[in-house]
Amino acid sequence: MQTESMPIHTTVTTASQLADLDLDNLQFGKVFADHMLVIDYKNGAWQEPHILPYGPIEMSPAMAAIHYGQALFEGMKAYKTQEGEVVLFRPQDNWARLNKSAVRLCMPEIPEELFMEGLKKLIALDADWVPQRPGYSLYIRPVMFGSEGLLGVRPATEYKFIVFCSPASSYYAEPVRVKIEEQYTRAVEGGFGFAKAAGNYGGSLLPAQQAHAEGYHQIIWTDGREHNYVEESGTMNVMFVIDGTLVTPALSTSILAGITRDSVLQLARDWGMPVEERRIKVQEIVDAYQAGKLQDAFGTGTAATIAHIKSITFRGEEMMLPPVAERTFSNKISAELDNIRYGLAPDPHGWVVPVK
Ligand SMILES: Cc1ncc(COP(=O)(O)O)c(C=O)c1O
Repeated sequence: MQTESMPIHTTVTTASQLADLDLDNLQFGKVFADHMLVIDYKNGAWQEPHILPYGPIEMSPAMAAIHYGQALFEGMKAYKTQEGEVVLFRPQDNWARLNKSAVRLCMPEIPEELFMEGLKKLIALDADWVPQRPGYSLYIRPVMFGSEGLLGVRPATEYKFIVFCSPASSYYAEPVRVKIEEQYTRAVEGGFGFAKAAGNYGGSLLPAQQAHAEGYHQIIWTDGREHNYVEESGTMNVMFVIDGTLVTPALSTSILAGITRDSVLQLARDWGMPVEERRIKVQEIVDAYQAGKLQDAFGTGTAATIAHIKSITFRGEEMMLPPVAERTFSNKISAELDNIRYGLAPDPHGWVVPVK
């Protein structure tokens, strides 16, 4: 099988799982589409891409990624429009962020054409796995890791880049209860919180597990130095509407530059809404709440798009936000992003990229 520009060796599965796909009982990340894209890096160069039936890969027990953490990933989605067209949302931004993560982890950058062509070919082949239902999509997981068997802390010389997919419905069934975390830290200035590095997630599991046990869905991370400033919410960026202004933490080396975050800020600016990207003190949120000015709070991310925050707990005090039905901004932005993705609204920024 050939694309115009590069050969992609394709082995089509003889055991498709598509007939077993049950969209009514879909759990996030449990079912995988039939194929995966695999590209190896060795001898200083990316090798020819392969599309293979989704399945296990061989690895050395000395593989660099599992010892020294050279592992990163991305998260993106394909949508099916009413006309049945399969589209991606801002895939070049995922490609660019993947390479930023790669540079921080001493891993090779992947050329745009290789990423985009391989991705499009994979999604075109598994197009029947993209559900055509409101709120549904095909979640796409690119992952890159040091695959060389080596002992000794140094960058690996061999890597694997794999893309595989999983059909998805909505991520959170209900608005989330979050707590302000003051003990643990997700990432610090000068670290690699801005990279989508596997290690960031490993370190977040215990605090998240403890928060779940206390009855919260998510943590609001605070800065590692003082625990005074808001950073992110779980695996999402976080935004507030305070007295009519959209406020979100400014990007830094400890915050992941979310593509949903950027899309929300862009649309808000298009609509003439005041937007502030700056440091936000936890105390400012508490003060705004007490003054009756905290109108909206939500997380933004590819998996959930917009996750309404029901309440924020700080030092045992739960601050209840207005009922979701009354929240003008987050409801409007959530609908607009969905409409752009499903081809129901104009796409003034050229975010939607057809797969074919
Ligand atoms: C830590 C973290 N922050 C923010 C985001 C949101 O980023 P995006 O909107 O690109 O999905 C994610 C998810 O990818 C994340 O893992």
